[in-house]
Amino acid sequence: KKVVLAYSGGLDTSVILKWLQDTYDCEVVTFTADLGQGEELEPARQKAEAAGVKEIYIDDLREEFVKDFVFPMFRANSQYEGVYLLGTSIARPLIAKRQIEIALEVGADAVSHGATGKGNDQVRFELGYYGLKPDIKVIAPWREWDLNSRTTLIAYAEQHGLAVPAGKRNEPPFSMDANLLHISYEGNALEDPWVEASEDMFTRSVSPEQAPNDPTYIEVDFEEGDPVAINGTRMSPATLLTELNRLGGENGIGRVDIVESRFVGMKSRGVYETPGGTILLTARRAVESVCLDRGEAHLKDDLMPRYAELVYNGFWFSPERLALQECIDKTQKFVTGTVRLKLYKGNVIVAGRKSPFSLYDNKISSFEDDGGAYDQKDAAGFIKLQALRLRTLARNRGEGWSK
Ligand code: ARG
Ligand code: SIN
Repeated sequence: KKVVLAYSGGLDTSVILKWLQDTYDCEVVTFTADLGQGEELEPARQKAEAAGVKEIYIDDLREEFVKDFVFPMFRANSQYEGVYLLGTSIARPLIAKRQIEIALEVGADAVSHGATGKGNDQVRFELGYYGLKPDIKVIAPWREWDLNSRTTLIAYAEQHGLAVPAGKRNEPPFSMDANLLHISYEGNALEDPWVEASEDMFTRSVSPEQAPNDPTYIEVDFEEGDPVAINGTRMSPATLLTELNRLGGENGIGRVDIVESRFVGMKSRGVYETPGGTILLTARRAVESVCLDRGEAHLKDDLMPRYAELVYNGFWFSPERLALQECIDKTQKFVTGTVRLKLYKGNVIVAGRKSPFSLYDNKISSFEDDGGAYDQKDAAGFIKLQALRLRTLARNRGEGWSK
Protein backbone atom coordinates (compact mmCIF):
# COMPACT_ATOMS: atom_id res chain seq x y z
CA LYS A 1 0.00 0.00 0.00
CA LYS A 2 2.64 2.51 1.09
CA VAL A 3 6.37 2.28 0.45
CA VAL A 4 9.28 4.39 1.75
CA LEU A 5 11.89 4.86 -0.96
CA ALA A 6 15.51 5.85 -0.30
CA TYR A 7 15.50 8.64 -2.86
CA SER A 8 18.55 10.59 -4.02
CA GLY A 9 16.74 12.65 -6.65
CA GLY A 10 19.02 11.26 -9.34
CA LEU A 11 17.88 9.59 -12.51
CA ASP A 12 17.91 6.00 -11.22
CA THR A 13 15.82 6.59 -8.13
CA SER A 14 13.50 8.91 -10.08
CA VAL A 15 12.79 6.05 -12.47
CA ILE A 16 12.29 3.77 -9.47
CA LEU A 17 9.81 6.22 -7.94
CA LYS A 18 7.74 6.23 -11.13
CA TRP A 19 8.07 2.48 -11.57
CA LEU A 20 6.87 1.81 -7.99
CA GLN A 21 3.83 4.05 -8.49
CA ASP A 22 2.94 2.28 -11.75
CA THR A 23 3.85 -1.31 -10.93
CA TYR A 24 2.61 -1.51 -7.38
CA ASP A 25 -0.08 1.15 -7.62
CA CYS A 26 1.10 2.28 -4.23
CA GLU A 27 1.73 5.56 -2.47
CA VAL A 28 5.44 6.34 -2.39
CA VAL A 29 7.01 8.28 0.47
CA THR A 30 10.47 9.60 -0.39
CA PHE A 31 13.35 9.84 2.03
CA THR A 32 16.47 11.77 1.15
CA ALA A 33 19.32 11.86 3.65
CA ASP A 34 21.94 14.55 3.88
CA LEU A 35 25.02 12.55 4.79
CA GLY A 36 27.38 15.24 3.58
CA GLN A 37 27.40 14.08 -0.04
CA GLY A 38 27.75 17.72 -1.00
CA GLU A 39 24.72 17.94 -3.24
CA GLU A 40 21.76 20.28 -3.19
CA LEU A 41 18.78 18.44 -1.73
CA GLU A 42 16.05 20.88 -2.76
CA PRO A 43 15.91 19.46 -6.31
CA ALA A 44 15.04 16.10 -4.77
CA ARG A 45 12.05 17.71 -3.05
CA GLN A 46 10.91 19.40 -6.25
CA LYS A 47 11.20 16.20 -8.26
CA ALA A 48 9.32 14.23 -5.63
CA GLU A 49 6.57 16.87 -5.58
CA ALA A 50 6.36 16.81 -9.36
CA ALA A 51 5.94 13.03 -9.18
CA GLY A 52 2.95 13.54 -6.88
CA VAL A 53 4.64 12.46 -3.66
CA LYS A 54 2.75 13.79 -0.64
CA GLU A 55 5.08 12.78 2.16
CA ILE A 56 8.63 13.93 1.53
CA TYR A 57 11.36 13.46 4.10
CA ILE A 58 14.66 15.30 3.78
CA ASP A 59 16.80 14.82 6.86
CA ASP A 60 20.17 16.19 7.78
CA LEU A 61 21.86 13.15 9.34
CA ARG A 62 25.44 14.40 9.16
CA GLU A 63 26.09 14.66 12.90
CA GLU A 64 24.47 11.32 13.66
CA PHE A 65 26.38 9.72 10.81
CA VAL A 66 29.78 10.82 12.08
CA LYS A 67 29.11 10.50 15.82
CA ASP A 68 27.23 7.20 15.94
CA PHE A 69 28.52 5.38 12.87
CA VAL A 70 31.86 6.72 11.58
CA PHE A 71 33.50 7.33 14.96
CA PRO A 72 32.55 3.96 16.53
CA MET A 73 33.85 2.24 13.39
CA PHE A 74 37.11 4.20 13.53
CA ARG A 75 37.63 3.16 17.16
CA ALA A 76 38.33 -0.26 15.69
CA ASN A 77 40.76 1.28 13.13
CA SER A 78 38.67 -0.51 10.52
CA GLN A 79 40.07 -1.25 7.09
CA TYR A 80 38.59 -3.85 4.78
CA GLU A 81 41.20 -5.95 2.98
CA GLY A 82 43.93 -3.74 4.37
CA VAL A 83 42.97 -0.48 2.67
CA TYR A 84 39.27 0.34 2.23
CA LEU A 85 37.98 2.72 4.91
CA LEU A 86 34.37 1.54 4.41
CA GLY A 87 32.92 4.90 3.44
CA THR A 88 29.87 3.50 1.68
CA SER A 89 29.46 0.47 3.92
CA ILE A 90 29.03 2.53 7.09
CA ALA A 91 26.38 4.84 5.60
CA ARG A 92 23.92 2.13 4.59
CA PRO A 93 22.82 1.03 8.06
CA LEU A 94 21.96 4.62 9.00
CA ILE A 95 19.86 5.07 5.87
CA ALA A 96 18.13 1.76 6.57
CA LYS A 97 17.47 2.70 10.18
CA ARG A 98 15.92 6.05 9.28
CA GLN A 99 13.86 4.46 6.51
CA ILE A 100 12.35 2.01 8.97
CA GLU A 101 11.61 4.83 11.43
CA ILE A 102 9.80 6.70 8.67
CA ALA A 103 7.91 3.57 7.64
CA LEU A 104 6.60 3.31 11.21
CA GLU A 105 5.72 7.03 11.30
CA VAL A 106 3.73 7.01 8.06
CA GLY A 107 2.33 3.51 8.40
CA ALA A 108 4.13 2.04 5.40
CA ASP A 109 4.43 -1.72 5.02
CA ALA A 110 7.30 -1.67 2.52
CA VAL A 111 10.66 -0.02 1.85
CA SER A 112 12.62 0.25 -1.38
CA HIS A 113 16.15 1.14 -2.49
CA GLY A 114 18.06 1.72 -5.70
CA ALA A 115 20.94 -0.72 -5.22
CA THR A 116 21.52 -3.28 -7.96
CA GLY A 117 21.29 -7.03 -7.54
CA LYS A 118 25.03 -7.45 -8.06
CA GLY A 119 26.48 -5.42 -5.24
CA ASN A 120 27.02 -5.08 -1.53
CA ASP A 121 24.62 -2.23 -0.95
CA GLN A 122 21.46 -4.30 -1.45
CA VAL A 123 22.70 -6.62 1.30
CA ARG A 124 23.53 -3.78 3.68
CA PHE A 125 20.20 -2.02 3.21
CA GLU A 126 18.16 -5.15 3.56
CA LEU A 127 20.02 -6.68 6.52
CA GLY A 128 19.39 -3.33 8.20
CA TYR A 129 15.68 -3.38 7.34
CA TYR A 130 15.10 -6.97 8.44
CA GLY A 131 17.18 -6.60 11.59
CA LEU A 132 15.13 -3.60 12.69
CA LYS A 133 11.71 -4.72 11.42
CA PRO A 134 11.53 -8.42 10.65
CA ASP A 135 8.18 -8.32 8.84
CA ILE A 136 8.98 -5.41 6.53
CA LYS A 137 8.38 -5.91 2.81
CA VAL A 138 11.39 -5.05 0.64
CA ILE A 139 11.13 -3.95 -2.97
CA ALA A 140 14.42 -3.97 -4.90
CA PRO A 141 13.46 -2.78 -8.41
CA TRP A 142 16.85 -3.60 -9.95
CA ARG A 143 16.21 -7.27 -9.17
CA GLU A 144 12.64 -7.20 -10.47
CA TRP A 145 12.30 -5.03 -13.52
CA ASP A 146 13.59 -5.58 -17.03
CA LEU A 147 15.22 -2.15 -17.41
CA ASN A 148 18.55 -3.82 -17.25
CA SER A 149 20.59 -1.53 -19.42
CA ARG A 150 21.24 2.15 -19.39
CA THR A 151 19.40 2.54 -22.71
CA THR A 152 16.18 0.91 -21.53
CA LEU A 153 16.31 2.88 -18.29
CA ILE A 154 16.64 6.16 -20.19
CA ALA A 155 13.93 5.15 -22.65
CA TYR A 156 11.62 4.46 -19.69
CA ALA A 157 12.50 7.83 -18.14
CA GLU A 158 11.76 9.68 -21.37
CA GLN A 159 8.51 7.81 -21.96
CA HIS A 160 7.37 8.94 -18.53
CA GLY A 161 8.43 12.54 -18.95
CA LEU A 162 11.33 12.46 -16.49
CA ALA A 163 14.12 14.92 -17.17
CA VAL A 164 17.22 13.10 -18.38
CA PRO A 165 20.34 15.26 -17.94
CA ALA A 166 22.34 15.54 -21.16
CA GLY A 167 25.40 13.82 -19.68
CA LYS A 168 23.31 10.79 -18.73
CA ARG A 169 22.22 10.03 -22.26
CA ASN A 170 25.43 8.21 -22.90
CA GLU A 171 26.72 5.72 -20.36
CA PRO A 172 27.49 7.60 -17.17
CA PRO A 173 31.24 7.60 -16.67
CA PHE A 174 31.20 6.15 -13.17
CA SER A 175 28.97 4.76 -10.48
CA MET A 176 29.55 7.04 -7.52
CA ASP A 177 28.50 7.19 -3.89
CA ALA A 178 29.37 10.11 -1.67
CA ASN A 179 29.03 11.13 1.96
CA LEU A 180 31.08 12.98 4.57
CA LEU A 181 33.52 10.09 4.90
CA HIS A 182 34.25 9.35 1.28
CA ILE A 183 33.37 9.31 -2.36
CA SER A 184 33.55 6.10 -4.38
CA TYR A 185 33.95 5.49 -8.09
CA GLU A 186 33.26 2.17 -9.76
CA GLY A 187 32.38 0.83 -13.17
CA ASN A 188 32.82 1.86 -16.78
CA ALA A 189 36.21 3.51 -17.31
CA LEU A 190 37.50 1.73 -14.18
CA GLU A 191 36.42 -1.77 -15.14
CA ASP A 192 39.88 -2.68 -16.43
CA PRO A 193 41.95 -2.92 -13.23
CA TRP A 194 45.14 -2.30 -15.21
CA VAL A 195 43.98 1.12 -16.41
CA GLU A 196 44.80 4.06 -14.16
CA ALA A 197 41.96 6.36 -13.14
CA SER A 198 42.03 9.64 -14.99
CA GLU A 199 42.91 12.70 -12.96
CA ASP A 200 39.71 14.57 -13.85
CA MET A 201 37.61 11.90 -12.10
CA PHE A 202 38.67 13.01 -8.62
CA THR A 203 36.58 15.56 -6.76
CA ARG A 204 37.76 15.65 -3.15
CA SER A 205 41.52 15.90 -3.41
CA VAL A 206 44.24 17.36 -5.53
CA SER A 207 46.77 14.87 -6.83
CA PRO A 208 49.86 14.48 -4.66
CA GLU A 209 51.84 16.08 -7.52
CA GLN A 210 49.63 19.20 -7.38
CA ALA A 211 49.71 19.46 -3.59
CA PRO A 212 51.62 22.34 -1.97
CA ASN A 213 55.39 22.09 -1.69
CA ASP A 214 55.24 23.17 1.93
CA PRO A 215 53.91 20.76 4.53
CA THR A 216 50.85 21.55 6.63
CA TYR A 217 51.22 20.83 10.34
CA ILE A 218 48.10 20.11 12.37
CA GLU A 219 47.24 18.91 15.85
CA VAL A 220 44.30 16.65 16.59
CA ASP A 221 43.01 16.17 20.14
CA PHE A 222 41.35 12.94 21.20
CA GLU A 223 39.11 12.15 24.13
CA GLU A 224 38.28 8.55 24.94
CA GLY A 225 39.10 7.44 21.42
CA ASP A 226 37.27 10.10 19.44
CA PRO A 227 38.72 13.26 17.88
CA VAL A 228 37.34 16.42 19.49
CA ALA A 229 39.49 19.32 18.29
CA ILE A 230 41.79 20.46 15.49
CA ASN A 231 44.57 22.91 16.35
CA GLY A 232 42.94 23.45 19.74
CA THR A 233 39.51 24.37 18.37
CA ARG A 234 36.75 22.07 19.55
CA MET A 235 34.32 21.01 16.87
CA SER A 236 31.25 18.82 16.52
CA PRO A 237 31.92 15.42 14.90
CA ALA A 238 30.61 16.40 11.45
CA THR A 239 32.38 19.77 11.50
CA LEU A 240 35.62 18.11 12.51
CA LEU A 241 35.45 15.54 9.73
CA THR A 242 34.58 18.28 7.23
CA GLU A 243 37.69 20.19 8.31
CA LEU A 244 39.90 17.09 8.09
CA ASN A 245 38.52 16.52 4.58
CA ARG A 246 39.52 20.02 3.59
CA LEU A 247 43.04 19.65 5.01
CA GLY A 248 43.48 16.20 3.50
CA GLY A 249 42.04 17.16 0.13
CA GLU A 250 44.37 20.15 -0.20
CA ASN A 251 47.36 17.92 0.49
CA GLY A 252 46.46 15.08 -1.88
CA ILE A 253 45.66 12.66 0.93
CA GLY A 254 43.36 9.65 0.97
CA ARG A 255 43.12 8.24 -2.54
CA VAL A 256 43.04 4.47 -2.85
CA ASP A 257 42.62 2.24 -5.86
CA ILE A 258 41.72 -1.34 -5.06
CA VAL A 259 40.28 -4.57 -6.31
CA GLU A 260 38.02 -5.75 -3.52
CA SER A 261 36.07 -8.92 -2.75
CA ARG A 262 32.35 -8.19 -2.70
CA PHE A 263 30.18 -10.13 -0.25
CA VAL A 264 28.13 -11.50 -3.16
CA GLY A 265 31.24 -13.26 -4.45
CA MET A 266 32.73 -11.20 -7.26
CA LYS A 267 35.86 -9.07 -7.40
CA SER A 268 35.30 -5.42 -8.15
CA ARG A 269 37.61 -2.50 -8.81
CA GLY A 270 36.95 0.64 -6.81
CA VAL A 271 38.65 4.00 -6.41
CA TYR A 272 37.99 6.02 -3.28
CA GLU A 273 38.81 9.40 -1.84
CA THR A 274 38.77 9.50 1.96
CA PRO A 275 40.93 12.50 2.87
CA GLY A 276 39.74 13.19 6.41
CA GLY A 277 39.32 9.52 7.31
CA THR A 278 42.89 8.78 6.23
CA ILE A 279 44.24 11.50 8.50
CA LEU A 280 42.03 10.29 11.32
CA LEU A 281 43.21 6.70 11.06
CA THR A 282 46.90 7.66 11.27
CA ALA A 283 46.19 10.07 14.11
CA ARG A 284 44.20 7.46 16.03
CA ARG A 285 46.94 4.88 15.69
CA ALA A 286 49.49 7.39 16.94
CA VAL A 287 47.50 8.29 20.05
CA GLU A 288 46.72 4.62 20.70
CA SER A 289 50.43 3.81 20.45
CA VAL A 290 51.07 5.64 23.70
CA CYS A 291 47.70 5.16 25.45
CA LEU A 292 47.02 1.47 24.92
CA ASP A 293 48.76 -1.37 26.64
CA ARG A 294 50.28 -3.94 24.31
CA GLY A 295 47.68 -6.53 25.30
CA GLU A 296 44.69 -4.37 24.45
CA ALA A 297 46.34 -2.94 21.34
CA HIS A 298 47.13 -6.35 19.90
CA LEU A 299 43.73 -7.76 20.80
CA LYS A 300 42.15 -4.86 18.90
CA ASP A 301 44.33 -5.58 15.91
CA ASP A 302 43.25 -9.23 15.98
CA LEU A 303 39.60 -8.23 16.05
CA MET A 304 39.85 -5.45 13.48
CA PRO A 305 39.58 -7.53 10.27
CA ARG A 306 36.56 -9.33 11.69
CA TYR A 307 34.92 -6.06 12.63
CA ALA A 308 35.68 -4.52 9.23
CA GLU A 309 34.27 -7.54 7.44
CA LEU A 310 31.06 -7.32 9.45
CA VAL A 311 30.63 -3.68 8.46
CA TYR A 312 31.50 -4.40 4.84
CA ASN A 313 29.06 -7.30 4.67
CA GLY A 314 26.22 -5.30 6.17
CA PHE A 315 26.03 -6.79 9.67
CA TRP A 316 26.03 -3.48 11.54
CA PHE A 317 22.91 -4.42 13.50
CA SER A 318 24.19 -7.86 14.47
CA PRO A 319 24.94 -9.22 17.93
CA GLU A 320 28.54 -9.98 17.01
CA ARG A 321 29.23 -6.43 15.79
CA LEU A 322 27.69 -5.05 18.98
CA ALA A 323 29.73 -7.42 21.13
CA LEU A 324 32.94 -6.43 19.34
CA GLN A 325 32.00 -2.78 19.71
CA GLU A 326 31.65 -3.13 23.48
CA CYS A 327 35.02 -4.76 23.66
CA ILE A 328 36.67 -2.11 21.47
CA ASP A 329 35.00 0.79 23.29
CA LYS A 330 36.20 -0.61 26.59
CA THR A 331 39.79 -0.15 25.41
CA GLN A 332 39.21 3.52 24.56
CA LYS A 333 38.70 4.91 28.06
CA PHE A 334 42.28 6.20 28.27
CA VAL A 335 42.76 7.05 24.60
CA THR A 336 43.00 10.76 25.29
CA GLY A 337 45.78 12.94 24.00
CA THR A 338 47.13 15.01 21.15
CA VAL A 339 48.75 14.02 17.90
CA ARG A 340 50.84 16.35 15.76
CA LEU A 341 50.84 15.53 12.06
CA LYS A 342 52.62 16.70 8.96
CA LEU A 343 50.45 16.59 5.84
CA TYR A 344 52.61 16.52 2.77
CA LYS A 345 51.88 15.48 -0.83
CA GLY A 346 49.60 12.55 -0.15
CA ASN A 347 51.30 11.54 3.09
CA VAL A 348 50.18 11.75 6.68
CA ILE A 349 53.35 11.78 8.75
CA VAL A 350 53.25 11.59 12.52
CA ALA A 351 55.39 14.32 14.02
CA GLY A 352 54.51 13.91 17.71
CA ARG A 353 52.09 12.46 20.22
CA LYS A 354 51.37 13.10 23.89
CA SER A 355 48.82 12.03 26.46
CA PRO A 356 48.14 12.46 30.17
CA PHE A 357 47.79 8.65 30.18
CA SER A 358 50.88 7.93 28.12
CA LEU A 359 52.46 4.59 28.97
CA TYR A 360 55.69 5.66 27.37
CA ASP A 361 58.18 6.05 30.18
CA ASN A 362 61.42 7.59 29.11
CA LYS A 363 63.01 6.50 32.34
CA ILE A 364 62.37 2.85 31.50
CA SER A 365 63.05 2.99 27.75
CA SER A 366 66.18 5.08 27.96
CA PHE A 367 69.59 3.49 27.68
CA GLU A 368 70.71 5.68 30.52
CA ASP A 369 70.56 4.47 34.11
CA ASP A 370 66.89 3.98 35.01
CA GLY A 371 67.36 3.85 38.75
CA GLY A 372 66.40 0.20 39.05
CA ALA A 373 63.07 0.21 37.15
CA TYR A 374 64.37 -2.44 34.81
CA ASP A 375 67.14 -4.83 35.75
CA GLN A 376 68.95 -6.01 32.63
CA LYS A 377 69.96 -9.17 34.45
CA ASP A 378 66.26 -10.21 34.56
CA ALA A 379 66.25 -10.42 30.76
CA ALA A 380 68.64 -13.39 30.84
CA GLY A 381 66.13 -15.61 32.67
CA PHE A 382 63.27 -14.27 30.56
CA ILE A 383 65.01 -15.28 27.35
CA LYS A 384 66.21 -18.63 28.76
CA LEU A 385 62.64 -19.69 29.62
CA GLN A 386 61.33 -18.48 26.25
CA ALA A 387 64.07 -20.58 24.65
CA LEU A 388 63.29 -23.77 26.58
CA ARG A 389 60.91 -25.11 23.89
CA LEU A 390 63.24 -24.23 21.07
CA ARG A 391 66.21 -25.93 22.73
CA THR A 392 64.15 -29.02 23.50
CA LEU A 393 63.08 -29.22 19.87
CA ALA A 394 66.60 -28.80 18.57
CA ARG A 395 67.82 -31.56 20.88
CA ASN A 396 64.91 -33.82 20.04
CA ARG A 397 64.85 -33.33 16.27
CA GLY A 398 68.49 -32.67 15.70
CA GLU A 399 70.24 -29.37 15.26
CA GLY A 400 69.37 -27.78 11.97
CA TRP A 401 65.85 -29.37 11.82
CA SER A 402 64.18 -26.02 11.13
CA LYS A 403 66.24 -25.13 8.03
N1 ARG B 1 32.50 -1.03 -3.26
C1 ARG B 1 32.22 -0.13 -2.22
C2 ARG B 1 31.45 -0.83 -1.12
O1 ARG B 1 30.94 -1.88 -1.35
C3 ARG B 1 31.49 1.10 -2.70
C4 ARG B 1 30.07 0.87 -3.14
C5 ARG B 1 29.52 2.10 -3.79
N2 ARG B 1 28.11 2.03 -3.95
C6 ARG B 1 27.43 2.68 -4.91
N3 ARG B 1 26.13 2.56 -4.90
N4 ARG B 1 28.02 3.36 -5.83
O2 ARG B 1 31.36 -0.34 -0.02
C1 SIN C 1 25.27 -1.36 -6.50
O1 SIN C 1 25.38 -2.50 -6.97
O2 SIN C 1 24.15 -0.85 -6.32
C2 SIN C 1 26.50 -0.56 -6.16
C3 SIN C 1 27.69 -1.37 -5.85
C4 SIN C 1 27.60 -2.18 -4.59
O3 SIN C 1 26.58 -2.16 -3.93
O4 SIN C 1 28.57 -2.91 -4.26
